[in-house]
Amino acid sequence: MDGPGSSGHDHPPNYLSIVIPSSAARRHPPANQSRIYNHLMPKFEKHIFVCTNQREPGHPRGCCDPQGKAEMQGVLKQKLAVRGLKTKVRANKAGCLDQCEHGPNMVVYPEAVWYGKVNMADLDEIIESHIIGGKPVERLVLPDECLNTASCVHRKPK
Ligand code: FES
Ligand SMILES: [Zn+2]
Repeated sequence: MDGPGSSGHDHPPNYLSIVIPSSAARRHPPANQSRIYNHLMPKFEKHIFVCTNQREPGHPRGCCDPQGKAEMQGVLKQKLAVRGLKTKVRANKAGCLDQCEHGPNMVVYPEAVWYGKVNMADLDEIIESHIIGGKPVERLVLPDECLNTASCVHRKPK
């Protein structure tokens, strides 16, 4: 005998029983769903976050984008596209990365290589050497003593 919630035809479908996946389930779908997503959309291999934070002139920490035009990110994105990397490498605008004294800054994931004092003339080298060649541009890499530490000599005491 059919009970409540069975697939018998005597009752209308129970719409209240439709399960909406939690956000965690959406972030970590079952393997069979992952395969579907992978098929539809290739994964980015790298993300480059370029600080586009603008502060008022004279701010004690300075800022990475005094003009507030995100030019560095825009040019980087174009250069990646010209090299056919648009679907593999994403160059995103980022808010303050909290390494302001070393700006303009950017960080490349998944390897978490941080670059400081980057200018437009460095972008080709970053792409060729690091993004394509896998070899970070050492002269621009922020040293550990500078990264996320209040003891960085470039950081002015509050
Ligand atoms: S303003 Fe660029 S890291 Fe803070
Ligand atoms: Zn420093």
